[in-house]
Amino acid sequence: MNFNIAVIKGDGIGDEIVTQAMKALETVGAVYNHSFTFTDVLMGGCAIDATGVPLPQETIDVCLKSDSVLLGAVGGPKWDTLPGHLRPEAGLLGIRSAMGLYANIRPAVLFKPLKKACPLRADIADRGFDMVIIRELTGGIYFGERGRRTTENGVEAFDTERYHETEIRRIAKVAFETAMTRRKKLISIDKANVLESSRLWRETVHKMAVEYPQVEVSDMLVDNAAMQLVKDPSQFDVVVTSNMFGDILSDESAMITGSIGMLASASLGDSKRGLYEPIHGSAPDIAGQDKANPVATILSVAMMLKYSFGLPKECAAIEHAVDAVLQAGARTPDIKDAETTQVVGTRQMGELICREIGK
Ligand code: IPM
Ligand code: MG
Repeated sequence: MNFNIAVIKGDGIGDEIVTQAMKALETVGAVYNHSFTFTDVLMGGCAIDATGVPLPQETIDVCLKSDSVLLGAVGGPKWDTLPGHLRPEAGLLGIRSAMGLYANIRPAVLFKPLKKACPLRADIADRGFDMVIIRELTGGIYFGERGRRTTENGVEAFDTERYHETEIRRIAKVAFETAMTRRKKLISIDKANVLESSRLWRETVHKMAVEYPQVEVSDMLVDNAAMQLVKDPSQFDVVVTSNMFGDILSDESAMITGSIGMLASASLGDSKRGLYEPIHGSAPDIAGQDKANPVATILSVAMMLKYSFGLPKECAAIEHAVDAVLQAGARTPDIKDAETTQVVGTRQMGELICREIGK
């Protein structure tokens, strides 16, 4: 089968990591008899430079016509002083919203060969962990009313955390359905001891729990969750949380997998079309130096195969290849652990993974 993929390389290391992920897709395609047509589109800082805006309409059109979207990363110091609505990040929020991608799936798994790269105490790392964070992606404080106003105390700035029941219900449904395919344990993370929006979140999740009697649901306050993630990450299976809490907690869970360069993500809405991107940023400090870890982006296309194209075997082939390469001791410079036998660059890491997929 042929799949049309819109490709947003973006800024910084985006080009390098996406190139390796495309190679991984092509390798899987050669083995399993699929082909991919890639269409490059601009978003982020490079789009600002070329067109004056971070998300040109043409990009939205191509993405909405594609079978799925692959994204590297956007942003960089060059565009940091632009007003909020013209920053590269506004492009990212814009495409998530334009495509209706309200569910962000971020699996955090400690690969066995990376146990020594995990910054947690050895007895905690030894237990391993395998969780998935379901982050609400098109609501909350990221999209609430914001602005500045002059008061008698000087300028005041505000952002608004706001959720309506429908938004909570649809993300909770994704979380319950995900829990049903896993260990049936769902933890909903909020700040209900302080925030009204969190209290509605909690009530809505509990109302839905009645429809999923097999799923064990509990609530956890976000500050406690930040602590529990480093105390014992093995207690988590599926986590559901708001846009901002999910942003923060997913970086924390990425780090305990050994490196932020390991975490993939899928952003999904009501159709099969999704947007797949590593959770890390554009790392301008190492851009163009063949140092970036392409694994998160390669694991993101593995998720694309599974979630958008219904190809779980092909997804597993990539995941196994990553595991095998790590098992053999190859590491990009972001991961330095006692098991490292070979420090490799972006390109070589991609090549090793492709070779393993082809075996
Ligand atoms: C992420 C990123 C983005 C976010 C930024 C770049 C706007 O941190 O995908 O986690 O906050 O959603
Ligand atoms: Mg983030």
